[in-house]
Amino acid sequence: MVTIALYNLKGGVGKTASAVNIAYLAAANGLKTLVWDLDPQGSSSFFMHVSAETKNESRKLFTDELSVKEAVQDAAFENLWVIPSDMSARNADLTLDGLKQSKKKLKSLLGGLKQFDLVILDCPPGISLLHDNVFNAADWILMPNIPTTLSIRSYETVVAYFEESGYDQSKIKCFFSMVDHRKNLHNEVMQQFYKDKVFFKNYIPYLSDVEKMGTHEQPVFEYANSSYAAQCYRDLWVEIKKTCL
Ligand SMILES: Nc1ncnc2c1ncn2[C@@H]1O[C@H](COP(=O)(O)OP(=O)(O)O)[C@@H](O)[C@H]1O
Ligand SMILES: [Mg+2]
Repeated sequence: MVTIALYNLKGGVGKTASAVNIAYLAAANGLKTLVWDLDPQGSSSFFMHVSAETKNESRKLFTDELSVKEAVQDAAFENLWVIPSDMSARNADLTLDGLKQSKKKLKSLLGGLKQFDLVILDCPPGISLLHDNVFNAADWILMPNIPTTLSIRSYETVVAYFEESGYDQSKIKCFFSMVDHRKNLHNEVMQQFYKDKVFFKNYIPYLSDVEKMGTHEQPVFEYANSSYAAQCYRDLWVEIKKTCL
């Protein structure tokens, strides 16, 4: 089982859109795939039409009141499952802080999900105790980055945090997201960072077909399978598969 976290310190960079679309492609490739929604916003749960079935479900997973196996739900697609989030996920840091091994709880819970080939963690933004759990548990930290100065600064902050905390930096892989080639800044930042081997060659442009996931409430392939957006995710998936699986 391989665990990939879609993560960035920043919000609104395309973590959830990528988590859902990449999970869909992995499942279509025959991998038993689970999306674990760790964000109280519940966006990936929403795209897969799944919601928590018991009260405070996200919290109960960390306190062992509910097993991960019980929390897994079918998504509407073959080979695809979801652990949805609810609002109790907003208190994940507080919950984890009260536990022994507070930085390794997620890793130990993932031990109960070995029946999957791939687990994708859809992370909330930030750097907190929950994220320490993600950094310990995930085999790969996949970071969508909008090619702007602030986005790149946040990437550098994360790299510095990894260094400081003794996490394995080679786990971090990045790709550009919401790219707009009409913007000189985007082109310049991409040029500069492609020298950095942690960035995938394939990227996701800013495309209205991706934005429309919100109105269709589905992965992009379900309503625009032959679009450029769908092709970009397929190309990125091939590169992710080669590197991470
Ligand atoms: N490549 C893209 N092109 C256009 N809109 C996008 C793209 N990726 C994401 N979006 C939109 O931007 C918003 C934030 O994306 P989301 O995936 O939820 O980011 P995050 O999970 O990092 O907060 C959403 O409304 C989403 O539909
Ligand atoms: Mg999100």
